[in-house]
Amino acid sequence: MATVAQMQEQILRGKAERNVCILAHSYQASEIVEIADYTGDSFQMSRSAQQSKAKTLLVCGVRFMAETAKLLSPKKRVILASPDAGCPMAEQISPAEVLTFKATHPGCKVVAYVNTTAELKTVADVCVTSSSAVKIVRDMEAEEILFLPDGNLGHYVKQQVPEKTVHLMRGCCPVHAAVTKEDALAAKAAHPGAPLLVHPECRPEVVAQAEFVGSTSAIMEYAKASDQKEFIIGTEMSIAELLQYACPEKRFFPLSKKLICSDMKLTTLPDVLAAVEGRGGEEIVLPESVMRRASVCIEEMLRLG
Ligand code: 13P
Ligand code: SF4
Repeated sequence: MATVAQMQEQILRGKAERNVCILAHSYQASEIVEIADYTGDSFQMSRSAQQSKAKTLLVCGVRFMAETAKLLSPKKRVILASPDAGCPMAEQISPAEVLTFKATHPGCKVVAYVNTTAELKTVADVCVTSSSAVKIVRDMEAEEILFLPDGNLGHYVKQQVPEKTVHLMRGCCPVHAAVTKEDALAAKAAHPGAPLLVHPECRPEVVAQAEFVGSTSAIMEYAKASDQKEFIIGTEMSIAELLQYACPEKRFFPLSKKLICSDMKLTTLPDVLAAVEGRGGEEIVLPESVMRRASVCIEEMLRLG
């Protein structure tokens, strides 16, 4: 039986031999984050996909992340380590619904959270991630915007950019949206004085309780730089764990133990090894028309972000 360390060794050897670059979202299990070439939030993963010189990108995350990597690196082989790992939010709105909305709102620009299918991106004008949404919506020339699919992130953007008309559609991350205001109040009562740091995919009434709102990476940077010693972490549980490794002198409490993304946790080290060795994972192949139209809004995201 191989140990975790032995399997990590095999992966590191295999990826060097086969010129594979591993991109892991920070919600992945820590044994995967440890062997990744690049790790971070969705925006950092996109940038790394574009910058990497490797022939093959192996994405440890969910399907929209692998599709985004493919859109940014069309000449590379892009493999999703766990083919079953999807993001429920990415599937919540269809391109037809967006086109219907656009027909009645001429001049309205469509801003799609990167957590969407490549197909939905074909009807968007620009993509955003949680770290760039406010900046991009604020800086865009358009005064009227349809933001989709995440109503919670959309609500946060609307609050931060009150000078624009921002329309929202239904849609949410079921993991972050499961946390309630009562959970936030209970965590604050249990850890008095510890600031609450939350992801904007949380409900507005949870965000309203927070001392800091930001993407996965922004939450990590804030906690690392802060002089405070205790923090309540309002995003996927892996972030509290990674912070605890990075800052052993501080303490990190998950806002709620409901904050586990089962899709992000589908990828295992054996999946990564099988994909590196070419006997597992799924190669992302997108129709030419989708590649052409969807990559425009991803490129626009990198230009404006
Ligand atoms: P970020 O990576 O943009 O922080 O988003 C979190 C998330 O839910 C990814 O699926
Ligand atoms: Fe999708 Fe939410 Fe999981 Fe991110 S945490 S992959 S948005 S379900």
